[in-house]
Amino acid sequence: MTSKTSPLANAARQRLLQRVEAMQDAASIGMSDRVTAELKSIDFSTLSGYDELRFYRSLGQKFGVESPYFRMHEGLAGSHTQIAGKALLNFSSYDYLGLNGHPEIVAAAKAAIDRYGVSASASRHVAGERPVHRALEQALADHYGVADSLIFVSGYATNLGVIGHILGPKDLVIYDSLAHNSVVMGGVLSGAARRSFPHNDLDSLDRMLASIRGHFERTLIVVEGLYSMDGDYPDLPRLIEIKSRHSAWLMVDEAHALGVLGKRGYGSAEYFGIDPQQVDIWMGTLSKTLAGCGGYIAGCHELVEYLRLTVGVFVYSVAMPPVIAASALKALEIMHREPQRVTKLQQNGATFRSLALNRGLDIGNGAGTAICPIIIADSAPAVVLSQRLLERGINVQPVTHPAVPAKASRLRFFLTAMHADAEMAAAIEATAEELGQVRDRMRALGPLL
Ligand SMILES: Cc1ncc(COP(=O)(O)O)c(C=O)c1O
Repeated sequence: MTSKTSPLANAARQRLLQRVEAMQDAASIGMSDRVTAELKSIDFSTLSGYDELRFYRSLGQKFGVESPYFRMHEGLAGSHTQIAGKALLNFSSYDYLGLNGHPEIVAAAKAAIDRYGVSASASRHVAGERPVHRALEQALADHYGVADSLIFVSGYATNLGVIGHILGPKDLVIYDSLAHNSVVMGGVLSGAARRSFPHNDLDSLDRMLASIRGHFERTLIVVEGLYSMDGDYPDLPRLIEIKSRHSAWLMVDEAHALGVLGKRGYGSAEYFGIDPQQVDIWMGTLSKTLAGCGGYIAGCHELVEYLRLTVGVFVYSVAMPPVIAASALKALEIMHREPQRVTKLQQNGATFRSLALNRGLDIGNGAGTAICPIIIADSAPAVVLSQRLLERGINVQPVTHPAVPAKASRLRFFLTAMHADAEMAAAIEATAEELGQVRDRMRALGPLL
């Protein structure tokens, strides 16, 4: 095999050599503060948090604990999966209703590929749309009983781009302290004033609004329909009352509520029996229950029209691949057609919760939904416990500080409609057994951990 080096690679290599030489020279002659500062400013390893990453990696190596992240699944990861050739029970899938890989969805995806290929190649503004884009938007609007909806290529980018776009420096965004990072970063992007209220503490939200709402033009309250860290939900009727009294918009992120809450899995509005039109902005993702990828906004005509024509994350970004739109559309159809999946998922949530409580495990705020935290407190034991469970054939992810408050690290169990009672019982039993042993071992290792 011949190896050819492009002019670009040569130039990059030249720059690298010069940089190394500069570093060597500076080191040999004793660097001035200015040179040191300059070298630091181009050294990626000085970026915020990099030292901490290195520290945790070396700690893991010292104690023989593998990183629990980026585990490689070798096939479809639902209630079961396969990692490194080993069949495992899986509690780390958001495929709540077990729709990923459903034959009808696979067939819809294949038909869309045959017709449109795999990419839409550019923004819908400039390169046009496909019928499946509008069909999915119509289906989502009908699902929420609102005028219209708009789909985006990423759930994260939906929050980031939409919140960042509809608010400005004269406005206020106020969100639950457990709101997803995409909500927080959307607030940052907007330039609006940002406040958070303690998790699900609506008295506190009400008080904050009473004292500061008057200083701002527009106010957006953002909550999640179902919180992905704690598996609990906010009091939506009360939020509607509060937002109306303070003349604010209410945005509900249904990423984890769709397919999970409400008798038929329609989400928070169905769960609380409210008129969905009372919520100003419904946001959701296609990546979880709908076994796809992307986000959506559903609401009144003016909101959706404004976003369709102006929001950068839609206007200047590629359209959703038609294959994804077609499969999410089919998944929504199956969810509506087969409410028994939702019933089973809800039974599983209740069963898992009582199994955990009976075994003396701390489930934090877990409300018996499809997400159940098992609170471990410190980060290191949570990571070690996840590894021990992996060795026993159970895949469950730890969530550690700073993703959750210090002393609130946990294992996070995601249940699906496909988990059997015996599988959940086995997982709880193994968790309780291993947790006792891990805690004993950690105590013996001392305060470093
Ligand atoms: C509440 C919430 N909102 C938004 C997102 C982002 O969605 P996606 O992963 O589909 O981009 C997530 C992802 O986990 C989430 O949990």
